[in-house]
Amino acid sequence: MRKYITDFTIVGKQVYNEMYFSLVLKHPEQLPEIEPGQFVEVDVPGNKQVMLRRPISIHDVDTENNTLTLLVQVVGKGTRTLAALNVGDKLNLVYPLGHGFSLEGKNVMLVGGGAGIAPLLHLSKCFASKGIRPTILLGGRTTNHIPVQKEFEPYGTIGFATEDGSLGEKGMVTQHSLFTNSYDRIYTCGPTPMMKAVARYAMQNNIECEVSLENMMACGIGACLCCVVDSDEGHKCVCKEGPVFNAKKLTNWINN
Ligand SMILES: Cc1cc2nc3c(=O)[nH]c(=O)nc-3n(C[C@H](O)[C@H](O)[C@H](O)COP(=O)(O)OP(=O)(O)OC[C@H]3O[C@@H](n4cnc5c(N)ncnc54)[C@H](O)[C@@H]3O)c2cc1C
Ligand code: FES
Repeated sequence: MRKYITDFTIVGKQVYNEMYFSLVLKHPEQLPEIEPGQFVEVDVPGNKQVMLRRPISIHDVDTENNTLTLLVQVVGKGTRTLAALNVGDKLNLVYPLGHGFSLEGKNVMLVGGGAGIAPLLHLSKCFASKGIRPTILLGGRTTNHIPVQKEFEPYGTIGFATEDGSLGEKGMVTQHSLFTNSYDRIYTCGPTPMMKAVARYAMQNNIECEVSLENMMACGIGACLCCVVDSDEGHKCVCKEGPVFNAKKLTNWINN
């Protein structure tokens, strides 16, 4: 799939709380096809301390208006600089990067935690366009850790799990009452311990499972080898051969 390096203009910004914000980015021309689970490498403007681009999942795609939305958690200097940008500012992106989710399965569950919720909105919409309504389970420590909630409602059956009980069921997302073995495929993105627990459950119950890894990255195109995962087929670049992998190929990763 062809990659592009393009300046986008910020045409929308939403601040959910002190941790999360989203940016709507307008492309000057027609957007290429974007798989759910693919990501962009963002050049962080105006901060000389941030040399490397930052990988961020594509949260939403609007092909009529040629916009992409990024949902970002502020964790360090790069994301803090992005949080200070405003409508009218430009952002340079390399995109669309990596291999996305397969969109296979008819009775599917999507499980997201924290910033890992980001790629699941575009994934939900792609399933909806195939006439499939997934079960979508979103987890976080508190309701503030699940910044995007209502946006998912048109596309599936939604369940929330928070550790403090401030939204949905109290506990881990893997303890939610909708987290059962009745699905034929599970898609997950979020904190590593959560994804490992989801993948382990899927494998124990003979359910196909796709996990989207968020390893540290630099080049984003398979050149620097800083993002490798120890898969069952040897070392794989998460940026190029992932970020989405079938859990069956990651038994080393799941069990370590
Ligand atoms: C394929 C992919 C998709 C991603 N999608 C999103 C997304 O949609 N939204 C989002 O908010 N974040 C996403 N991330 C994580 C995001 O790239 C990092 O949070 C970001 O690069 C941190 O940059 P920074 O300069 O703010 O932090 P830094 O100053 O570089 O680091 C601050 C802290 O964050 C930690 N950190 C940095 N990168 C990562 C990472 N990749 N995973 C876990 N911890 C990290 C560092 O260890 C450090 O403790 C994604 C990462 C990958 C690889
Ligand atoms: S980030 Fe450079 S090889 Fe993956």
